[in-house]
Amino acid sequence: MGEQTTKDLVGGVSHRPALPHGGALVDRLADPDTAARWREKVASSPVLRLSARGSADLECIGTGVYSPLEGFLGKADYERVVEELRLADGTVWSLPIALPATEDLASAALEAGVAALADPHGHITAVIEVDESFRPDPLREAERVFGTTDAMHPGVKSLLAAPPARLAGRVTLLEHPAHKAFAAERLSPAQTRAAFADRGWKTIVGFQTRNPVHRAHEYLQKVALEMVDGLLLHPLVGETKDDDIPADVRMRCYQVLLESYYPRDRVLLSVYPAAMRYGGPREAIVHALSRKNYGCTHFIVGRDHAGVGSYYGTFEAQEIFDRFTREEIGIDILKFEHSFFCTACDAMATTKTCPHTPEKRVALSGSLVRQMLVEGSAPPPEFSRPEVAQILIDAYRKEKRP
Ligand code: ADX
Repeated sequence: MGEQTTKDLVGGVSHRPALPHGGALVDRLADPDTAARWREKVASSPVLRLSARGSADLECIGTGVYSPLEGFLGKADYERVVEELRLADGTVWSLPIALPATEDLASAALEAGVAALADPHGHITAVIEVDESFRPDPLREAERVFGTTDAMHPGVKSLLAAPPARLAGRVTLLEHPAHKAFAAERLSPAQTRAAFADRGWKTIVGFQTRNPVHRAHEYLQKVALEMVDGLLLHPLVGETKDDDIPADVRMRCYQVLLESYYPRDRVLLSVYPAAMRYGGPREAIVHALSRKNYGCTHFIVGRDHAGVGSYYGTFEAQEIFDRFTREEIGIDILKFEHSFFCTACDAMATTKTCPHTPEKRVALSGSLVRQMLVEGSAPPPEFSRPEVAQILIDAYRKEKRP
């Protein structure tokens, strides 16, 4: 909070709009004329077909979600991110956003100086001006970034399955990604910033999720909403692992929940196009920095944020922020204990607010909830709102149908 004056603080909450990470929002979307010229120029260049994750990374770079990145990382940035959670110039960045390619394609692209980038269906959507190609050590990256080399970890699994070379350089989007799913909710950082300004919101809390919003999530959001002007409900809709609930089902859950339980004028539902890496603490940092780029002043990190299995400590994703100064991160992290419904309090709570013993808590594991939904029974209303449970039951029922 070093440079803040008391004028910027109301109730301890900063009123200064969040500057993009690195100072300026990146916008790598070409206007139609430039895009047409690029298409001619790359007509006979090597074409790299992106994975779903690569495609998500490309959109995040191109629309400024990953500001200050303007392209896929080169070796110097990659090395420092992997080893020190910083770009080569010292800016905090925790995930190596690199572009995998086969050796053959990497050398052809390097020679050509430019390559076309196609989406997973083969449609060319962008170009990369190739500066460099390098070959990382995936096991070292897995160990440093994910804290494990276990191929059962979904982030490690896709890292180990990726082709061996990396292509680095600035990207240009040739078309707007708004044609993708959830077009109406697919707001870029520039668009969410404008939406916040329109609504007169000065303090905005961002909420990352890859799940339906259950009561525990709702509690964190509403505790935060007591202190700030608005909530950006920001579900991740890029690739997730197979047993996570699909984004379209989740979107229906969010919509019905917002209609019934949230003040309409204090929440903006928009989607976060990134893919999940399940990188726990390291991913929490990029989640926070991205939401700063979207214009949020605050970001919620609860228990096991972006975690999977038992690879990370319950609060490791909160503790990692202590390695940096407030100015380096530039968005206030709201750290929450494990939240639950306490039957003795008859309310949602955490151990910070509830004195009762664990047996008073409604605690359901993810797999138990899944089993209940598959069997067509709703989890208790203390766990999930009935409207949300119903959508999930219907979705599981459809899935079971041959
Ligand atoms: S995540 O992969 O996107 O982090 P999830 O959608 O489950 O998974 O979590 C969204 C946010 O809510 C994260 O910040 C997570 O730490 C937090 N969270 C989820 N459940 C709880 C809970 N019961 N108590 C406290 N925080 C929680």
